[in-house]
Amino acid sequence: MPIDVDTFRTGMRRLAGHVCIVTTSFQGQRAGLTATAVSSVAAEPPTLLICINRQNSSHSVIRQSGIFAVNVLALEDQGLANRFASRILGEERFAEGVWRTLDTGAPLLESALVSFDCRIAQAVEVGTHGVLFGAIEGIRVRQTQTKPLLYIHGSYGGFAVPGASQSPEVLGMPTWGQIES
Ligand SMILES: Cc1cc2nc3c(=O)[nH]c(=O)nc-3n(C[C@H](O)[C@H](O)[C@H](O)COP(=O)(O)O)c2cc1C
Repeated sequence: MPIDVDTFRTGMRRLAGHVCIVTTSFQGQRAGLTATAVSSVAAEPPTLLICINRQNSSHSVIRQSGIFAVNVLALEDQGLANRFASRILGEERFAEGVWRTLDTGAPLLESALVSFDCRIAQAVEVGTHGVLFGAIEGIRVRQTQTKPLLYIHGSYGGFAVPGASQSPEVLGMPTWGQIES
């Protein structure tokens, strides 16, 4: 039986997502958007994927530049998640947050739990979306105990282990002490 769009969306709204800001830079102009369709693909070679609606303005900029960064948001960065999914466009979105670059030149968010600096290795079009595979050229891990920002059923939220202390060790998050690249 064919699945209609509403049923698909209803199902996917129950899939918790880690909220990320995907960024790029092309000819001196930065672009970026909020995205949850991000997944690990392989450790060898280090690869992840992002799914971006081809109607989103960032999609063509990412394709043109051939680079992107995935910034995994901390709980306190919900404001940035809203900003990068709002009517504010292009460079203006970067007026908030502290941004830097690593290897490719794509913008990395200082307050992200982790940022993956990628070059497009492969691109596939599936319906409305571009599925972009990123060869990871750099990783910046933030030294923090901050929890991640999650998204489910149309709402932002945090992560909790039922009945357990909320120390970072319990959450499986080491007390990070180094920046890797
Ligand atoms: C929590 C959340 C998750 C989102 N995930 C995605 C996603 O994975 N892929 C996508 O193309 N758009 C996603 N969006 C929508 C884009 O962030 C939004 O359409 C944005 O305004 C696009 O900006 P642009 O047109 O400047 O690229 C998401 C929005 C929110 C609020």
